[in-house]
Amino acid sequence: MAIANPNIPEDVRAVAADGTQLRYKLMELSALYPDAIALGRGDPDLATPAHIVEAAKAAMRDGKMGATPIAGLPELREAIAAKLRAENGLPVRFENVMITTGGQEGLYLVMQTLLDPGDEVLVPDPRYTSYDEAIASAGGKMVLVPTTHADAFNLRPEAIEAAITPKTKVILIITPSNPTSGIVTEDRLRAIAEIAIRHNLIVISDEIYEKFLFDGWQHFSIGSLPGMAERTITLNGFSKTYAMTGFRVGYAAAPLNFIQAMTRVKAATTGAAASISQWAALAAQTGTQEPIREFHRIYAERRALMMRGLNELGLDYSDPRGAFFLWTNSSSTGIHATELAYLLLKEGRVLIFPGNAFGENWGGYLRISVLQSTDLLTEALARMRPIIERYRAQG
Ligand SMILES: Cc1ncc(COP(=O)(O)O)c(C=O)c1O
Repeated sequence: MAIANPNIPEDVRAVAADGTQLRYKLMELSALYPDAIALGRGDPDLATPAHIVEAAKAAMRDGKMGATPIAGLPELREAIAAKLRAENGLPVRFENVMITTGGQEGLYLVMQTLLDPGDEVLVPDPRYTSYDEAIASAGGKMVLVPTTHADAFNLRPEAIEAAITPKTKVILIITPSNPTSGIVTEDRLRAIAEIAIRHNLIVISDEIYEKFLFDGWQHFSIGSLPGMAERTITLNGFSKTYAMTGFRVGYAAAPLNFIQAMTRVKAATTGAAASISQWAALAAQTGTQEPIREFHRIYAERRALMMRGLNELGLDYSDPRGAFFLWTNSSSTGIHATELAYLLLKEGRVLIFPGNAFGENWGGYLRISVLQSTDLLTEALARMRPIIERYRAQG
């Protein structure tokens, strides 16, 4: 689908093929409209639980502001290792865990540490395009593995197998997925693990949305399967689970030699994650987990509201099994998603990211996040309706 509308400014058109730049450009434009409703970013809007904020304040009051070891605060690494053993079934100790400055740094450091020029990484399409840059900056090559709406964007082991070449080094899994909100189901993960072992591949498993699955779907960690601990790097973080995006704390769990190599790369980049944030993360990990249940309830309610609203608009979306998004087929409007997103922002004051911000093949989709109150989501749907209907009538 081509971007036809001549009214789309050149600066938006110029970045339409670069997922990350396109997202940032639309956020920049959105800042010009104080009344815009942001359904763009995937950062939780809910308040960080009070006991976590208090732990950060206490760390400051108590002068815990010196740098921690590069790989992170030992107490936090220990607490995360215990969580990964108990909840995810990963056979890890504290030495297998490294604290990163957000999951974002984790995925970058992993690629820097792991890839040699020319190494191929199998990446599900559509995808979280931050991986594109992380892979490219390490000299790696991204090889897309198609996923489909009909399959709820689950990864197909056969599609992975078909994409393997002698240069393949890594299979990247993101479950639940940004942007599709699909999951990779346990049966598929078992088959993918078997492929990884047979072809001697490494698996990177980004599980940052693990706490938010719906309709009875269960999260499963591929690193827990026999023969996988030694070839799996699990990525996660505190941003989504505890609404702590601004604290910038994430983590990687991996074999010891990999953590040691990654620690050397981290020492050369940002050094240790912010100490105050790590104390806050420790409180999050070891304190009450009740806020996660409350967040889950709130997201489920919003998700149901948005699903009803999209049904009423006659827009089809993929089964949202996890995460915060409605991956919505917008092709019935007859216009490219970049154009539609631009018009929804300019005329409707609703910020939504076009599907092509998550891969060039997705100009017929929108990624709608539900990280606003139910009142604002209702208002956003009302603002979207005349625009969608107008284009559909013209189409
Ligand atoms: C799939 C995925 N991985 C990692 C991240 C990084 O999150 P953070 O750096 O806030 O931990 C994000 C953020 O949106 C994401 O969607």
